[in-house]
Amino acid sequence: MTASSIAAAIENATVPSLDVAAVRAQFPALQQEVHPGKALIYLDSAATALKPQSVIDAITASYARNTANVHRGVHALSQRATADYEDAREKVRGFIGATAVEEVIFCASATAAINLVANSWGAKNLKHGDEILITELEHHANIVPWQLVAERTGAKLVVVPINDRGEVEERAFTEKLSERTAIAAFAHVSNSLGTVLPVKRFTALAHDAGAKVLVDGCQGIVHGDANVRDLDVDFYAFSAHKLYGPTGVGVLYGKEAILDAMPPWLGGGDMIDEVRFDGSTWNDLPYKFEAGTPPIANAIGLGAAVDFVRDLGMDRIQKHEGEVLEYGHDQLGAIDGLNLIGTASQKASVLAFTFDGAHPTDVGTLLDAEGIAVRTGHHCAQPVMAHYGVPATARASLGVYSTKAEIDALVVGLAKARQLFPAT
Ligand code: ALA
Repeated sequence: MTASSIAAAIENATVPSLDVAAVRAQFPALQQEVHPGKALIYLDSAATALKPQSVIDAITASYARNTANVHRGVHALSQRATADYEDAREKVRGFIGATAVEEVIFCASATAAINLVANSWGAKNLKHGDEILITELEHHANIVPWQLVAERTGAKLVVVPINDRGEVEERAFTEKLSERTAIAAFAHVSNSLGTVLPVKRFTALAHDAGAKVLVDGCQGIVHGDANVRDLDVDFYAFSAHKLYGPTGVGVLYGKEAILDAMPPWLGGGDMIDEVRFDGSTWNDLPYKFEAGTPPIANAIGLGAAVDFVRDLGMDRIQKHEGEVLEYGHDQLGAIDGLNLIGTASQKASVLAFTFDGAHPTDVGTLLDAEGIAVRTGHHCAQPVMAHYGVPATARASLGVYSTKAEIDALVVGLAKARQLFPAT
């Protein structure tokens, strides 16, 4: 049940272990008690990851020394800000394996990135009768933008169901794929279940059917292998804040030829070539899609986050997280009246569950009293909750700093919750 793509890395004995104590020392938030006598146990990294000191320092330096707008000034500060901003773009390009920096667009968030594709590529290319293929495990950010553009274009949303382990089976995917599929949009890793989708395989299948592919990589960029050239996806969207970077910036990767053919979505400064009252022309990529003052300091912080992850090594991160996830599955799975929601054979980071006799919100509140941060609710994935017939789950989610000792603390916290809420 607990085998995972991460577990594959565990078996790779050549991958060195992570020095987790040294990693944890880099996160100021972990050095606190959240309640008297209760050190923070942060198990909510799928909502947002904690930030290492290097990311905080990069953002502080941007504001303290180099505050200026980018691409707009000849003065030294603007030149420095522009260089740092574009350097961050290059770091992201290298991290995701994109061919060119023109393919890396800084957006306000992953949600904004997906909305950009829906409103630009979708509005231009979708027509009545076309199908937009999504899956049942999508985050609302990869459902609602498509619903909105479907309403405007006459295209139709088609949903690939999950099985009860929370997996998207290839048979189910191909059953819904057809020559009418214009785009397939699906998560790399489910935020509510932890399921890792076979992105490369599904992308090849979608391309064979003549469809474009957009991948919601919010969790995948953190826990998976997100080489966009290897995956061959047309679009890959992710946010910085789950990758140990700041809030307020996301990335849209798109293949250059596709981005080139897309009209701008947001209009304003920096995205233009020439503005006249009888019509305007557009800047080159990637600026065509970066209207207005961009999230400069946040993009620079994202660059530092990429450095942080690369320095540790994704293989070592995966091995470590995989070991803690597997341990967590075993420990939580042994608790009476605890139902794990999402038991895919390929999983990352997420331990979601319901607890007989207690609402997830009550469980979360009791855990908080012990200093343990988990998320409770529908996790912006109401269709997933509907699939399992629950209003909400409690979700513990792991990051690079998570430990087996924290899982043990979660188990103790749940035992306390059980005393207050006996299983019925
Ligand atoms: N999408 C984020 C989560 O899964 C906020 O919690």
